[in-house]
Amino acid sequence: MLACASFFAGVGGIDFGFEQAGFDVVYANEFCEKASITYKQNHEVELDTRDIRDVPSTEIPDFDVMLAGFPCQAFSVAGYRQGFDDEKGRGNLYFELERIMKDKRPSIVFLENVKNLVGHDNGRTFRIIRSSMEGMGYKIHHKVMNACDYGDIPQNRERIYVVGFLDDGVSDCFSFPDEIPLETDIGDIFEFESKVDDKYYYGEDAYMYDELKRGMTSRETVYQWRRKYVRENKSRLCPTLTANMGTGGHNVPLIKTRHGFRKLTPKECFMIQGFDSSFVLPENVANSHLYKQAGNSVVVPVIKRIANSIISAIDLENSIQSDGIIVTQDLMAVNGGRWGI
Ligand SMILES: C[S@@+](CC[C@H](N)C(=O)[O-])C[C@H]1O[C@@H](n2cnc3c(N)ncnc32)[C@H](O)[C@@H]1O
Repeated sequence: MLACASFFAGVGGIDFGFEQAGFDVVYANEFCEKASITYKQNHEVELDTRDIRDVPSTEIPDFDVMLAGFPCQAFSVAGYRQGFDDEKGRGNLYFELERIMKDKRPSIVFLENVKNLVGHDNGRTFRIIRSSMEGMGYKIHHKVMNACDYGDIPQNRERIYVVGFLDDGVSDCFSFPDEIPLETDIGDIFEFESKVDDKYYYGEDAYMYDELKRGMTSRETVYQWRRKYVRENKSRLCPTLTANMGTGGHNVPLIKTRHGFRKLTPKECFMIQGFDSSFVLPENVANSHLYKQAGNSVVVPVIKRIANSIISAIDLENSIQSDGIIVTQDLMAVNGGRWGI
C-alpha cells in the first residue's frame, strides 16, 4: 500500500479519495483550528496542526505520494489574483511543497487547485510550478476537470489537477480518467420534499423574500443569492461551492422546496462534494465554518478516479517490467541453449 502525506489537508477530502482507491494516509497537516476539529473527527491519522512553514521535513515521516490542495485564493478569479506576490503570503505556500518535495523525494505528487491557476499571470504562475517540479525530476500531467463530467456529481466545479511522477515508465502509463455520464441528480442529494431545521428557511419577514419569490420559480434547479439578486444556474446543477458561502449571505446556494425557500444545509454541501453520508459534522463548529470547509474542499469521487488512474499506471508499468524480465529470461534460456551461457 502506498503511503501518502496530505498537506493543507482541510477536512481531508483528498485523503478520502486516495484512501477509497487503496492508498494509506500516514501524515496530514492543517493549521486551521476549526478545520482540524472536523478533520480529527473523520480521520484516524494524527493531525499535525502546525503552520507548515514551521515544520522541518525531518519531522515528516517518509511517504510515497504527496497530496496537496494548496491555498488558492491568491490564484482564484474570485480573489485578487496576486499569485506568488499575495500580500498575505498565501501564494508562496507552493514553495513549502517544493521544499518538502526536495527533501522527501516522494515518487508521486498530486496537486489540486482552482482552474485559474493555469491562466494566472498569463501562464507564468503555472510555468513556475511546472518548471520547479520538472527541475526536481518530475514528469508532469495536468488536466482541468469538471465534477459533473468526471465525478458523477451534479456540481459545476472545474478544478485543475496536477500529477507528477519521478518514474518515467509510470508517467508514460498514466492518463487522466475519461468523462462519465452524470447519473446522480440534485434530487438524490438535496431534500426538496422533506423538512430540514427551520433555521435554513427564509420566512416572509426576510429582507430579500420578495426577490427570492420573484427569482426562484423552479424546483428543478439550484440558485445563488448574489448580494441583491437571485442567480439561476444551469438546470439541475449546483453552482461551484465557494469558501465564502455562508458569510454575509453571499454565494449561498438556495433551493425552492415543498416547505419554502432555503439555503443548503452544511451536510448537503458536503454531500454535493461527494462526501459519504457517514461524514461527521462536529457539533462544536459553527455552520459558517462548516460552509467554508465544504467550499474549500474537493469532489471526492473525482479524486478517487484520479487515484485509481495512478494505481492503473503503476500496475501497467509493473506488468511491462515483469514481462520484460520474462523476455530477458526467455532470451537467456534461448541463449543458454544455443551458446551454453
Ligand atoms: C483549499 S484548502 C484545502 C482543502 C482540502 N483539500 C480539503 O479537502 O478540505 C487549503 C487549506 O490550507 C490550510 N492552510 C493555509 N495555510 C496554511 C499553512 N501555512 N499551514 C498549514 N495549513 C495551511 C487552510 O487552513 C485550508 O484549510
